[in-house]
Amino acid sequence: MAVENHLDQTKTHVARLEEAFDYLDEQAMRKACAGMRGLIEEGDEHAREDYGEDGLRDAVIIGGAQRIEHYEIAAYGTALAHARLLLLDDVADLLEATLAEEKEADERLTEIAEEVVNLDAAGEDEDDEIDEQPRSATTQAPAERSRR
Ligand SMILES: [Fe+2]
Repeated sequence: MAVENHLDQTKTHVARLEEAFDYLDEQAMRKACAGMRGLIEEGDEHAREDYGEDGLRDAVIIGGAQRIEHYEIAAYGTALAHARLLLLDDVADLLEATLAEEKEADERLTEIAEEVVNLDAAGEDEDDEIDEQPRSATTQAPAERSRR
């Protein structure tokens, strides 16, 4: 499953960060990220809402997972830019590998949402005319849509 694969990748990402700190001759330390905690709490809250069908819930969960991936992509992208500016090629290589995997994870989530979940959430069969409509690559919780 895509989520489990990415969990394994995340362990590799941590190892790469520790390796990057070794290159810098610095000690890596863990610190909770308030932004990430907020995204996780928001995703959990949305997933607990009553949607009446599993397809819509899946769409909401994937949307929350993509928010997390985008946050990670921003963080790794910034760190990579800094490493390049400082000419830390070894560190940049590590960050670039992780950034590529984060982008792949996001793209995989988009594929899942487009191929399966959005159709289920819309209550449509693949034979229906929904393919003629432009589809969003991301999903939104109904509560967000109703606030607009
Ligand atoms: Fe990720």
